[in-house]
Amino acid sequence: MKILVVGSGGREHAIVWKLKQSPKATEIFCAPGNAGIGEDATLVPVKATDIEGLVRFAKEKEIDLTVIGMDDPLMLGVVDAFEEAGLRVFGPRKNAAILEGSKAFSKELMHKYGIPTAAFWEFTSSEEAKAFLKEHNTYPIVLKADGLALGKGVLICEDEQQAMDGVDEIMVDKKFGSAGDKLVIEEFMTGPEVSVLSFCDGKIIRPMVSAQDHKRALDHDQGLNTGGMGTFSPSKYYTPEIAAYCEENIFRPTVKAMEAEGRTFKGIIFFGLMLTPDGPKVLEYNARFGDPETQVVLPRLDGDLVDIFEACIDGTLDQVPIAWKDNAAVCIVLASGGYPVSYAKGYPIEGLHAFDGQDDLMIFHAGTAKNEKGEIVTSGGRVLGVVALDENLDKAIAKGYANLSKVSFKDEHFRTDIGRK
Ligand code: AMP
Ligand code: GLY
Repeated sequence: MKILVVGSGGREHAIVWKLKQSPKATEIFCAPGNAGIGEDATLVPVKATDIEGLVRFAKEKEIDLTVIGMDDPLMLGVVDAFEEAGLRVFGPRKNAAILEGSKAFSKELMHKYGIPTAAFWEFTSSEEAKAFLKEHNTYPIVLKADGLALGKGVLICEDEQQAMDGVDEIMVDKKFGSAGDKLVIEEFMTGPEVSVLSFCDGKIIRPMVSAQDHKRALDHDQGLNTGGMGTFSPSKYYTPEIAAYCEENIFRPTVKAMEAEGRTFKGIIFFGLMLTPDGPKVLEYNARFGDPETQVVLPRLDGDLVDIFEACIDGTLDQVPIAWKDNAAVCIVLASGGYPVSYAKGYPIEGLHAFDGQDDLMIFHAGTAKNEKGEIVTSGGRVLGVVALDENLDKAIAKGYANLSKVSFKDEHFRTDIGRK
């Protein structure tokens, strides 16, 4: 099979790496990919949001299966476009990707179908939002821009002043663009956060192993929010009892609800959960693999990812073998110094092949490119994810940090406490 993966980060590198292990995959392409992905797949110079370009390429090359890694093309309807062109594609259609694309939609869905989540209120006018906040007068409170805002449209406000400023930022100044046309105000919840990704064929849902991420830039959850400085799997909080509760009360009801709404969901549902004192609740849905969660989850999969993707498309997910290794994984992100604010690019990277041939240590590229000399250099905020696997989390963490110095570039920055949550 000729397979095309769409996206360019560490997540897509992990997907390509796993697909490559399938005996069915004869040739893998990635659009647009990055320098590291280019060592495992043929790079295609088409942007992930250039839907016409992607369809044209897939037709020309007679691609048998396309896998969408990123969120933006999903919201733009890339799956619908591929299907209309008679091409096989893995991911939700536009009308189902709204599960991630609109927070108001997902909150209303959960409310309608009794899926546990934080209490919420919706506003299209900043005056009404402010009047509500004055009346409600409970802090902290959470403000969310309705639409996609690169994971940044969430403000946790400690007092009335912050909340008023937050409403202005989102709805008046439009800091997150049209994502802020609608505002969702949410009750503030507490508890450990766990990510559970799941395969979904429209009717059946099969969850993957749990993961946790570290969003802040600095140790002990200090500093600014980032796209993710590291992840680990499994989460010690996600016990078999909690997993059973979530399957029964959150995962299966979500898939059923989407089907009942005429928005059948095929693809990956990523459940962002908070394990509150009142039980697990949904923080957010994503309609795709998480980044950098995928980098710790897929290496633990014992199964053929091509078969699983095909089963999701064909509605036969109950028939495909999916097993998980009884081990643990940690992903430590090597970022450019200054990320997430401003950082230099173009630094050469040493040691990219330090773990070649090892199945317990690997490097997934997130932001790398080739320079004119053909060297692989840094080209983004998050540059690499170093993944270590071992029989338990402590050993995986120790292995990851013991080997980290074998890979390096100028001004690199990483957290020293990944996995210690
Ligand atoms: P989201 O993009 O919805 O996942 O929100 C980003 C982060 O904000 C989450 O990972 C949580 O840490 C935090 N957050 C979102 N909603 C709430 C809430 N209702 N209560 C407490 N924290 C929240
Ligand atoms: N790591 C969170 C996300 O992929 O949205």
